[in-house]
Amino acid sequence: MEVVTAEDYDGMSKEAAKFIYEAIEKKPDITLGLATGSTPQKMYQYLAEMLNENNIDLSNVHTVNLDEYVGLDGDDKQSYHYFMLEEFFSKVNIPLENTHIPDGKSDDLDAEVESYEKIIADLGGIDLQVLGVGRNGHIGFNEPGTPFNSRTQVVDLTDVTIKDNSRFFDKIEDVPTRALSMGLETIMDTKSILFLASGETKSEAVDALLNGEITEEIPVTILQKHDNLTVMLDKDVLGE
Ligand code: F6R
Repeated sequence: MEVVTAEDYDGMSKEAAKFIYEAIEKKPDITLGLATGSTPQKMYQYLAEMLNENNIDLSNVHTVNLDEYVGLDGDDKQSYHYFMLEEFFSKVNIPLENTHIPDGKSDDLDAEVESYEKIIADLGGIDLQVLGVGRNGHIGFNEPGTPFNSRTQVVDLTDVTIKDNSRFFDKIEDVPTRALSMGLETIMDTKSILFLASGETKSEAVDALLNGEITEEIPVTILQKHDNLTVMLDKDVLGE
């Protein structure tokens, strides 16, 4: 595990954008695993700027997102489809047909999670996966107690996650209680991981990743076993 500590959120976001930019330069047909949420927001902004300034061709890049809420339409502002389009896909020249996000509106969620695993396999696996972390240590939407051998599946969100994510919704009752998420084994199968965490609220989860015992009760701890993990933090998360 390599740990990079930036001065602040902005610095971390720039470093992360540079990391992904260089990975794309090195492998123009890269498959990126992407995350949503507040943490990578600025990273996407910087990355889009860097890609556009340098006219980088993304026609052979593919993306697969970690997760999506069950029940939200792609044009719902709280959906992860909407987030990705707003924050990244609409700003760069990636063909939309190369981008994949689980369909939370599918009539057959079991078939959807199976076909999502197939999409990843057909792409030859994920070269670089971006991850954030929940306050409770979730990665993707794999909540505490999720088996380490889980694959993409339908998951129930915990009260902590529903409460944390309610900041994006008008009221807490509007937050979906279920999501589709890559499993922990799906995440561990990725060839490399860029893990990002910023701010005090993530300190406990980050401490568990850096120093804790590996346990299904804190899903992020499984990343200790990944052999190509880069952890990017800001000083706040370390309490510095
Ligand atoms: C998002 C995801 C989640 C978030 C986590 C942190 O696609 O999979 O695990 O990374 O909930 O969210 P933020 O960054 O909003 O604190």
